[in-house]
Amino acid sequence: MSSLPMSPQVFAILSALIEQRAGLHYAPEDRDLLQEKVSARALDAGFDSLLDYYYFLRYDPAGPETLDALVDSLLVHETYFFREALPLTVLVEDVLAPAVREGRKLRVWCAACATGEEPLTLAMMLAERDLLSGVELVASDLSTRALERARTGEHNLRSLRAMPPGAEGRWLEVRGGRPYVKPELVAAVDWRRVNLVDAAAVAALGTFDAILCRNVLIYFQDDTALRVVESLGKALVPGGHLVVGTSESLMRFGTALTCEERRGAFFYIKAGP
Ligand SMILES: C[S@@+](CC[C@H](N)C(=O)[O-])C[C@H]1O[C@@H](n2cnc3c(N)ncnc32)[C@H](O)[C@@H]1O
Repeated sequence: MSSLPMSPQVFAILSALIEQRAGLHYAPEDRDLLQEKVSARALDAGFDSLLDYYYFLRYDPAGPETLDALVDSLLVHETYFFREALPLTVLVEDVLAPAVREGRKLRVWCAACATGEEPLTLAMMLAERDLLSGVELVASDLSTRALERARTGEHNLRSLRAMPPGAEGRWLEVRGGRPYVKPELVAAVDWRRVNLVDAAAVAALGTFDAILCRNVLIYFQDDTALRVVESLGKALVPGGHLVVGTSESLMRFGTALTCEERRGAFFYIKAGP
């Protein structure tokens, strides 16, 4: 299918609309990529001009819903079990375990969980140490499609590439060439749709002892990432821990959270009471 033409002006207004809705930033060099993806949606919906499609998204009563579906088609859900596992192990062993053993009930939020491998990894690590019942796990993503998949517990074989020996047989069952996570682990996670750029939606989740927000800030411009980090900071209890991706750093934002290294893993910690 050929693409509809996208002038620099139409690219500018369409990419601004997408960025405003979901934080995703498209630089001018990404124009071809955006053109291809948006054209496919516009043609499917019967439009023969991207400017008309833009006006529809912006002003039609059905625009917001269509924009959400367009955004969903642009999201990248790359993830796998035990991805960047060290910070998760250190979080579980050094931060969560002592508090749960003191009898505290903790809340942990995985803020851009894609198809669920990250919160399910955390659930496996907690269950392994008999801590799962002491932790309320919330996992969210913007993508309805990714969340639907997460809730089924069905994954793909590529998502197993970093599974430690033994964990696979214990927590997953492979049927017909597809791995399925044990239903009790899937049920231990409260799956929600949350847009991270919507500060009110973030605030509505309440507060957490730890938040994982990994490999998603990279899609945002610095000002958007800073706003997101600020609302995540508000959602942490005093002394709460924020974990970002290994290749992400918050130091350039001048965040109010303090960066601490523990056993080679980095945490951003909210000042205590
Ligand atoms: C590359 S995945 C990272 C998944 C997981 N955190 C990991 O590190 O393996 C990025 C996820 O961020 C989600 N995302 C992008 N923009 C978002 C937003 N504004 N609000 C919530 N989630 C968003 C995408 O849908 C995608 O599932």
